Formats: sequence, C-alpha cells, structure tokens
Amino acid sequence: MKIVNLKLINFRNYENLEVNFDPSLNIIYGKNGEGKTNLVEAIYTLALTRSFRNINDYKLIRDTETIAKVEGNISNKMTDNYKVIISKDGKKVKVNNNKIQKISDYISKIPLVLFHPDDLRFIKDTPSIRRKSLNISISEINPEYLKVLNYYNKVLKQRNAYLKEMMLNSNKDRHYLDILDEKIITYGMFINSKRKDYIHVINNYLNNIFKNITGIDGLTIEYISDYNNLTKEEILKKYNDNLSKDMSFGKTNFGVHTDDFKFKINDKEVRDYGSEGEQKNVIIAYKFSELEIFKIINGNYPLLILDDLFSELDTEKIDNILKLLKPDCQTFITSTSLSFFNNLKKDSYKQIHIVNGKIEEV
Ligand SMILES: Nc1ncnc2c1ncn2[C@@H]1O[C@H](COP(=O)(O)OP(=O)(O)OP(=O)(O)O)[C@@H](O)[C@H]1O
Ligand SMILES: [Mg+2]
Repeated sequence: MKIVNLKLINFRNYENLEVNFDPSLNIIYGKNGEGKTNLVEAIYTLALTRSFRNINDYKLIRDTETIAKVEGNISNKMTDNYKVIISKDGKKVKVNNNKIQKISDYISKIPLVLFHPDDLRFIKDTPSIRRKSLNISISEINPEYLKVLNYYNKVLKQRNAYLKEMMLNSNKDRHYLDILDEKIITYGMFINSKRKDYIHVINNYLNNIFKNITGIDGLTIEYISDYNNLTKEEILKKYNDNLSKDMSFGKTNFGVHTDDFKFKINDKEVRDYGSEGEQKNVIIAYKFSELEIFKIINGNYPLLILDDLFSELDTEKIDNILKLLKPDCQTFITSTSLSFFNNLKKDSYKQIHIVNGKIEEV
C-alpha cells in the first residue's frame, strides 16, 4: 500500500499543496514551525480521518477558513482516490467520489504505523494510555476486537451502576449481577486472549530489532492481567470473592479494564531504569515490530510515519534505525536536518523541503 500523491486545501498552515511521494522513502525537512508535522498529520488524517494530536477536528482547518480537504491516491492492487473533508459541522469521507456513510468503514482501509514523540507516554504514562494504544493497534487488524471491547465497556458500566444500587438496597436481585458477570467474563476472556496473542507476536520481533538499534539484548514486553492463567471458573470465583469490596467502592476492581503492559530489559523495568534515548529506542523497536504484524495480517506493509524521530538519539543509533527501513514499506520521516541521511544512497529517497506551508523546489 502506497500513497502516490496528496492534495491539501486549507489544512493547518497549507493553503493549497500538491505533492507526489516516493514509493519507498520520503524525507520531509525544514526548520521548526514550517509545517513538517502538519504534512504527516495530513497523511494520518487521510488514513484515520482525525489527527494523532489529541485535538478537535476543526483545529485542522486553516485559521480564517471554514473547510479543509485532504485528498490522496492510494495504490494497492488498484489505485483508489480517498478524500476527507472537515468542516466545523463535521466531516465527510469519500472513496472514488462515493460518500462512505460510516467512518468506521473507512478507517480500516489505509493501515498506518506512526511514531510521534508523544508515544514516549506509552512507557511513562498510566496503564490506561497503554491499553488505549494497544486497543487501537489490535482493532486495526481485528475489527471483532473493537466490537467486543465496546460490549465489555458497556457491561462494565452496567455492573458498576448495579453495584451502587445493591449497596443502597440490600434486597436487590443477585440474579441480574450473575447475568452481567457471565457476560463480562465472556468478553473479558476474548479481550485477554487477543491481547496475549498480540504481545506474543510483538515479542517475536521486539528484542532483535532493539538489539539491532542499540546492541542491548534482553528486551521484552510483558502483559499483566487479572485474567492471566485463570480458568473461567476461577475468574468467576474472583468476582464473587470481590463482591463486598466492589460494592463498597461502587465499581468493579477485577478485570481486563485494569490490564497493563511493561517493557523490561533483563527484568529491569524500562520506565524506572531506561535513559531517555533508550526509552525512545524501545518505542521505535515496538513500532517496527508492529509493522511486521501488519505485514503478516495484510500481506504487505502499512505506511510508516516517523515524526521527529531523531532528537535525543546519537548518530550511531540513527544510522542503525535507517538500516531497518524496508524499501517495500513506504516511509515518511520528518527532520530539521538532512545531515542524518548522508549515509543513504542519494537515489533511494525523495527530499521534500518545507518552507512556511509550501514545498521549496530543490
Ligand atoms: N489551523 C492552523 N491554521 C494555520 N496555521 C496553523 C494551524 N495549526 C497550526 N498551524 C501552524 O503550523 C505551523 C507549523 O507546525 P508544524 O507542527 O507542522 O511544524 P514543524 O515543521 O513540524 O516544526 P518542528 O520542527 O518544530 O516540529 C506552526 O507555526 C503553527 O502555528
Ligand atoms: Mg514537528
């Protein structure tokens, strides 16, 4: 899957832009604030209809304008035209000029892996950030997972509400709670097994990639879940054992909504022991592992966006990362300097020089 070209109208600081991309490697360079991240954000928006920055869609519209358009031709076996139109009232998506009614039918069509400096939160931040990120990745390769996750969250809400009612009224019917427990366990066991599978496959690649970048051996990601290694009966017993605690808290304390994921290098947690640069390389190794999973599932690589990858990394690590790039995986790298790429063959990539929302011809 490749983006052949991209057309932007009133997107961020781009008034009107047309750009053709290299099928392998695109290096988007320019000074701070010129529009490099905005350009890869447009690619992300074409794929997922929203930004990777946690913002309202309307912020993507160029100041003083009311409507933004992102359009691109995507070649797979055939070439298809994709369009995302964002206005203050909402957004529309089209494939080959046919309006797609459900955004969810659109967003699985252009698989994409992104590295963005905020991804370091995946190590530093709370478990909910890690669960969210995993949920997005697994949903992209398994739409059933997203459905079950939504069911789980709905039943969890119902259970928490019912616990509060039980707390206030001791005559409340226990039978209804049993029905909710049965559902939550069925959905929870499905989620647990998909997360376990995903982490297992990540671990098939993660350490090797990390070793190629840093020379350090022993990186794993560990999946921590209340459900791990328990049978259905054992899980049910846990819910029963926890009932009085759950009632006093008015919420469910046990289940996959408390899952977490930890990176470890030889049993030392990366969050507690890893340097800034090491943490960045861990995330990069994780993203490159995700590429391989997408390749297994879809038969070809997704798009890869690496935004501001190189700050904090030494030149040796940068060279090692560039060696990991695959010619058949279309990649977009933003950078403030071209000097990082001196060791690449000149004809192996396209340089795109951005100056104040325009492409400066080289
Ligand atoms: N909706 C918008 N309308 C117009 N301009 C915008 C809008 N949103 C952001 N900008 C401007 O776009 C500019 C470029 O932002 P961008 O994040 O792409 O820079 P960058 O080239 O990635 O810089 P850096 O090297 O610092 O990461 C900023 O100066 C910002 O003010
Ligand atoms: Mg930027």
